[in-house]
Amino acid sequence: MSVITLHEADVLRQQDPEVAELLLAELRRQSTSLQLIAAENFTSRAVLAALGSPLANKYAEGYPAARHHGGCEIVDMAERLAVRRACALFGARHANVQAHSGSSAVLAAYAALLRPGDTVLALGLPYGGHLTHGSPANFSGRWFDFVGYGVDAETGLIDHDQVRHLARNHRPKAIVCGSIAYPRHIDYAFFREVADEVGAYLIADAAHPIGLVAGGAAPNPVPYADIVCATTHKVLRGPRGGMILCGAELAERVDRAVFPFTQGGAQMHTIAAKAVAFGEAATPAFATYAHQVVANARTLAGHLAEEGLTVTTGGTDTHLITADAAPLGVDGRTARGRLAAAGIVLDCCALPHGDGRGLRLGTAAVTTQGMGEPEMERIAKLLAAVVRGHPEPAGARAEVQELTGAFPPYPS
Ligand SMILES: Cc1ncc(COP(=O)(O)O)c(C=O)c1O
Repeated sequence: MSVITLHEADVLRQQDPEVAELLLAELRRQSTSLQLIAAENFTSRAVLAALGSPLANKYAEGYPAARHHGGCEIVDMAERLAVRRACALFGARHANVQAHSGSSAVLAAYAALLRPGDTVLALGLPYGGHLTHGSPANFSGRWFDFVGYGVDAETGLIDHDQVRHLARNHRPKAIVCGSIAYPRHIDYAFFREVADEVGAYLIADAAHPIGLVAGGAAPNPVPYADIVCATTHKVLRGPRGGMILCGAELAERVDRAVFPFTQGGAQMHTIAAKAVAFGEAATPAFATYAHQVVANARTLAGHLAEEGLTVTTGGTDTHLITADAAPLGVDGRTARGRLAAAGIVLDCCALPHGDGRGLRLGTAAVTTQGMGEPEMERIAKLLAAVVRGHPEPAGARAEVQELTGAFPPYPS
């Protein structure tokens, strides 16, 4: 049923060749360039099948057995299944699987716990805080009074002394731990201790590491945080969407913060796809995958450092690496442009205590393709050569195509 089966592609091609060509072009782009964006992955065909299913037709405002629409008997079962699987996977008492995205999950967490004007302590944006952690361009920065903690200038690691100091001084209503660019494990026990000391809620925004948590390759925030927010589309390898985990005492507040406070009808096709992804993530094969993602990231980080890039914190515990390309003579934006021209796709990010932009990359997608540590070494060497301006883009592209050709994301 997914758009990448020949049958569905044919139906679409006949009815709307313009859109069909765009879908196929994107599939070709994803298959023939190197996907090193830390927040992306390749879902299974089963996840795509659920996304492209008739559940997309169903309106289902509310929660199972308490819907505002008729005909929800089947989608109720799909949502209950997704909730059950999420709770089992992460050891949570309650899961809300309706959040449309990671940002929606964070918005709902704030809505469940805070009032406008409350003080919140979170990692500052220059150090890897997400937009929803207090950006003035985002609802969070407008409605709440954010105080930002940072990272140590020498090590790049979260400055725990500063976190404790700011918490004591500002007495926040909530403390947020989680980042878009922090490559190391977060010490959830430490954040819990500080939150308890100042009487704050602890919100773990585990959008990035949640897939590693599922595979047993990163610490689980669930035993420590009042609310865990996550995305389902990064290492977790599910559909684009969000999820919230919490204890029984906050379950109703969280559910009401999602619907009716911040969202309308649930996207049942996405919820079914989340159920599929949770099922996949509970398998031994996924645990092997999650550990390989980290092994690949460590290897890639090591070889990038050998090639002369400055790797933040000296390496990684996760799927994610941030690095400064300045030692190779170029700023992050120029490096990203050269890499894009060669078919190597990654992001720029702020560098803690750096002037310019760095590179942010991850190994979730290439590991799904089956690449291992030898390929990581090859990618690091190619990446550094392209950033330095040699070889010619065409030569680099050919090498990228050789690699991606050997590891197709969707072998036909
Ligand atoms: C830490 C963190 N929080 C929230 C989000 C937002 O997720 P979404 O883009 O699904 O809204 C992200 C996305 O990368 C993230 O890394």
